[in-house]
Amino acid sequence: MKPRSCPHILVADPLHPSGLAVLAETSGVTFAAPGKMDRATALAAIPDADALIIRSGTPADRELIAAGARLRVICRAGVGVDNVDVGFATARGVAVMNTPHGNAVAAAELTFGLMLALARHIPQASASVGAGRWDRRAFVGTELRHKTLGIIGLGRIGSAVARRAAAFDMRVIAHDPNLRDDDTRRALAECVTLDELIARSDYITLHAPLKDATRGLINAARIAAMKDGVRIINAARGALVDEAALADAIRSGKVAGAAVDVYSAEPPAGNPLVGLPGVVHTPHLGASTVEAQEAVAVEAAQQVVDALLRGVYRNVVNPQALST
Ligand code: MLT
Repeated sequence: MKPRSCPHILVADPLHPSGLAVLAETSGVTFAAPGKMDRATALAAIPDADALIIRSGTPADRELIAAGARLRVICRAGVGVDNVDVGFATARGVAVMNTPHGNAVAAAELTFGLMLALARHIPQASASVGAGRWDRRAFVGTELRHKTLGIIGLGRIGSAVARRAAAFDMRVIAHDPNLRDDDTRRALAECVTLDELIARSDYITLHAPLKDATRGLINAARIAAMKDGVRIINAARGALVDEAALADAIRSGKVAGAAVDVYSAEPPAGNPLVGLPGVVHTPHLGASTVEAQEAVAVEAAQQVVDALLRGVYRNVVNPQALST
């Protein structure tokens, strides 16, 4: 590997211009940001890169990381790092970062939009009026007020949902095995076991990361233990839910409705939930606001520059990589 005067950053997914401006205005780094890179182009470009910035579109898997002989940092502009082989990156001494702050409000607001859409049948009513009908009786809804909202995962997004739920006069319960006893977030909700949350909630919303321990967290057995008529919102990761089991429960009427922004495979071709009456769909829009896209892009660019030029590593999900 030839020594180089200046570290090089590869941006393999489209990034908001404000993030690219941070890179352009930083002397001491070079960068390439050609937009969405296909697999072959990314594999050809990675050997030259000291850092890689991606969104959810580029899998930073074993093959890509192994091809990055100079790679020191992978930064995910967003929260979920399930498209990065973190274990392999750690073994190679590559730090993996995310940008957890920028899109929490966007995700929480979408969650509320989905919850209201379920409670008031907004998408179906809109389609009905658009089709020339005027049927008010078909779309009588229910109120969120005094309903119990179960939040699985009380991190930044789950906490933002809890604050908003309080303003809607909901009873808020939450389950998060990672909360320490003295964590101030405990004040936002009544913290309960997962079983208790499952049994008590009228609405269940997921805000947990996807990892081995959480894959299929909402499965047939847990759905059977829920209240009849429960509504489920998933704007976190599709594979947290056994989608076939949820589809069965919607068909049987056990689950009154589901709002789904994320899918085990995206786009969700052949997904059993797609097109089912009672399901509200959006195409992974949790972070898709102008404000969030800009915030995560700037956060990602700044974090990478600080790591490469100043040795300051923030929001590292695999701190062990820094000691290998
Ligand atoms: C995230 O993990 O930040 C969100 O799901 C948005 C995304 O994946 O692009």
